[in-house]
Order: sequence, then structure tokens, then C-alpha cells
Amino acid sequence: MSRNPIIAGNWKMHKTPEESIKLANEIKRNTFKIEDVDIVLCPPFTSLTDVKDVIQDTNILLGAQNMSWKTEGAFTGEISSLMLKSAGCAYIIIGHSERRAYFGETNELVNKKLKTALTEGLLPIMCVGETLKEREAQKTFDVVSEHVHKGLAGIEGQDIIKVVIAYEPVWAIGTGKTATKEQAEEVHAFIRENLAKKYNSEIAEKVRIQYGGSVKPANIEELIKEKDIDGALVGGASLDAASFVEIIKGANKCYTPS
Ligand code: 13P
Repeated sequence: MSRNPIIAGNWKMHKTPEESIKLANEIKRNTFKIEDVDIVLCPPFTSLTDVKDVIQDTNILLGAQNMSWKTEGAFTGEISSLMLKSAGCAYIIIGHSERRAYFGETNELVNKKLKTALTEGLLPIMCVGETLKEREAQKTFDVVSEHVHKGLAGIEGQDIIKVVIAYEPVWAIGTGKTATKEQAEEVHAFIRENLAKKYNSEIAEKVRIQYGGSVKPANIEELIKEKDIDGALVGGASLDAASFVEIIKGANKCYTPS
């Protein structure tokens, strides 16, 4: 596999600036020897610049959890791509299921945000995934396909390789119920097939697809050994330095550059 693993920590609405500095320092101290895994920390907006200061001169990259599709203007409470770049972000999480479920984000909005991110030079992590109800109704592939195709509408081949797709089955998020490696790989392979059809197989092979949903030190290795699983988007376990570092080390151990 020639795709470097990417392990991102989505801190969600946790950690004050002081707590963020402490957590980022602990992660930094324990990952400085790791070169093959892309490590991304996504703290809340209020901690971005503090975390940026901690991780400067390291391999760790900064990401944000949401942004506006508008670049500037009278949009009270919104944050723009320009602000995030200036705060040190390289990555941006777009379309997380919590944003879809609680803040009304649609595939169309996800697509607009993705286009803005790419135009403005941020690397998107686009989240897709089905709810338990959808899985039980055998709709997983339909939902994921719709998230992928509508989210990526109008995105050209040279841009898609900058996008990371995070497959996060909603029923596995924060529930302790990880998808089995077979369940996860099946959907990852399906996403890659969809990319091959939409673009071509060479491009599809370059796109990194992360798994998210109750990833922990005990399951990262079996997940990442699967052919189409290129990393993890970690929630709860990224709030604890020791467990996040174990996840990064697990991914690093299983990676063999080709
Ligand atoms: P958990 O790892 O807490 O299940 O959260 C996953 C997630 O939503 C990451 O974006």
C-alpha cells in the first residue's frame, strides 16, 4: 500500500485552551519518532492557535471541525477558510454526522464547503456513513453512495486526491460498538469502487479512506491491516494522550511503504 496512513483526532466540543495545550504536548512528546503516519489534531476553534504553537516544528498537522462555505461577510458565528488557514490549519473536517444530524447539514452544503476548502487551500476530510436504521433497512450502500456522489459533485480528478474520505457509521460513533474489520472494509472497498467509476482506478487508488467509530488501541491494527482502510478519525480515544498515541503507533507498526 502506498497511501500513508492518516490518524486524526476529532476533539469535538471538548478541551479548553489550557487543556488542549496539555494534551497536544503529551501527544507531541510521544510521537516525535513517527514519520510515516500523518497525525492531525482537530481541537475546537478556541484552541487552534494554542495547539498550533505546541506542534510547530513537528510532523503533527492541525485541522478544524467545521467551517462556513462563505469566505467572508456578515455571517454571525461562522468561521471562514481564510481564518482557519491563518490559525494554522491544514485540514478541515466536513460533513461530520453530528453536523448532519444536529445542525441540518445536507449533502449539498457539504459539497459547497468542500469546494470552498479546495479553492482556499485546505485539505478536506469528508465524512460519510449510515445510521443504524439505514443499516438495518439494508440501505448502507445507497446512503454512502449518495454521500460520496453528492458530496463530490463537480470535484475534478486533480482535486479528489487531496480529499480524505472518512467512513463513519453513525451507529459506531461514541457507542463503543466498532464496525468489524469486515464490515468496515466492505464499505471502504465500495467507496473506492465508486471513486474508480467516477474518476478512474489510478485516482481511486490514491484517495485515502479513513474509518471512524469507536476506534481504540485494541482495534486499530486489525482495521488498518485491511486493504482499503487508510487510517482513522478518532473521537473519544483522541482525548486521552496515551490511547491516541497507542493508536498512532499501531497504525505505524502496520504500515509498510511500497
Ligand atoms: P468516537 O471515536 O468517539 O466513536 O467518535 C468517532 C468520531 O465521530 C470521529 O469523528
